[in-house]
Amino acid sequence: MVVKFSERVAGIEISGIRKIFEAAGPDSINLGLGQPDFDTPQHIKDAAVRAIREGRTGYTTNNGIPELRAAISRKFKNENGIKYHPDQVIVTAGASEALHIVMQALINPGDRVLCGDPGFVSYASLAIIAGGRPVSVPLTKTLHIDVEKAKSLMDKAKIFVLNTPGNPTGAVESKESIKAIVEYAADKDVTVVSDEVYEHFIYGKKHYSAAQFGDNVITINATSKTYAMTGWRLGYLAASPEIVGQCLKVHQYCQACATSISQYAAVAAYEGDQSAVAVMRDEYQVRRDLIWSGLTQMGFDFPKPEGAFYVFVPMKPEMTQKIISSGVIAVPGTAFGVNAPEYTRFSYATSRQNIMTALERIEKLVK
Ligand SMILES: Cc1ncc(COP(=O)(O)O)c(C=O)c1O
Repeated sequence: MVVKFSERVAGIEISGIRKIFEAAGPDSINLGLGQPDFDTPQHIKDAAVRAIREGRTGYTTNNGIPELRAAISRKFKNENGIKYHPDQVIVTAGASEALHIVMQALINPGDRVLCGDPGFVSYASLAIIAGGRPVSVPLTKTLHIDVEKAKSLMDKAKIFVLNTPGNPTGAVESKESIKAIVEYAADKDVTVVSDEVYEHFIYGKKHYSAAQFGDNVITINATSKTYAMTGWRLGYLAASPEIVGQCLKVHQYCQACATSISQYAAVAAYEGDQSAVAVMRDEYQVRRDLIWSGLTQMGFDFPKPEGAFYVFVPMKPEMTQKIISSGVIAVPGTAFGVNAPEYTRFSYATSRQNIMTALERIEKLVK
C-alpha cells in the first residue's frame, strides 16, 4: 500500500535542531538546547504532588481550571499592564500548542504569516501545517525587527509573529518598535501573535507586551522557560473573546485540556514565591557575559544579546562544523530560516563550567 501523505506535512522538514542532537557524542557539551538547566522550584513540584494525592487527575474544563485562568489574568495585570478577563485565557500544552491553535483558527489557504528571519523554528512550520504561507521578515544588523521592512510586507498579511526577547537572537525589541508594529498591523487588519516566553530573561532592558498597544494582539506565554518547566507542557494564549472563541474549538478537539496536574502546579508558579525566577535571571546574565566575552575576545564580532539565553554568533558554516565536531553542540543558523546561514546559536542554559570548557575547545579551533 502507498500512503499518500498530506502535501502540507510531507513538505516540511524535521527540525534542524533535532538532527544536531542525534549527532552528539558522550563527552559533548550541549549548548544546543533551548531549555533551562534549572530544576522546577520545589513549591511548584509540591503543588503537583498534592494535586495527584488529592485525585485531581481527570479532564479539566477545556479552557483550563478557573483558578489558573484567574492567576494568569492577575499576572497579566500586574506584570504586563494588560487587562485580560480569565475567560479570555486558554490554557494549552505549552506555548507550542497555543501557537498551533492560533494558526489553525486564523489561517485560510495561502494566507501570509510574517515571521522574523532568523526566528524560532516552529512559526513557519506551524503556518504551513495550517495551510498558510510563511514570509520571512529580515532583521536589522543588530538582529532586531526592521520596522519599515515589516510594515512594507504587512499589506497582504494575515498574521505578524512578534517574539521578544527573541530566539535565536536574544534581541529585545524597544517599546517604540512594538507599538509601531501593533498600530500599523491594526490599520492593515493584521493580527499580531506575540510570543513572550522569555519575558523574564532580560538583562538591563524592559519587556513590553504588544497587547498594551492594541487589541489586535494574541499574547502567548508559558511556564516553560520562566519557571524551568519545559516538560510540564503548560502554556496559554490570551486574546479578544472573539478570537478565544475560535481558538477554543481547535483546542477542544485536538487537546481537550492541558494536563490537570501541570495546571495545579502552574497556579503555585504564578501565585507563589517568585524569587527563583530572579535567581535564574541573574545566573543567566552571568553566563551571558561569560560566553559573550569569551567569544568576542576570540574575534567573533557581535552585539551583546539583551535577553533569552542564546548568543547568535556570526561565523562561517565550516567553523560551525568544526565546533560541533570538537564536541560542542550548537545549532547552525540555517535551522532558523533562510537569512542567517553564516550564524550559529549557542545556548547558555547550561553550567558556567560547561560554558568555560566549550570556550576552551572553540579557542583551540580559532588559533
Ligand atoms: C520563542 C519560543 N516560543 C515558544 C517555545 C515553545 O515553548 P513551550 O515549551 O512552552 O511549548 C519556545 C521553545 O523553545 C521558544 O523558544
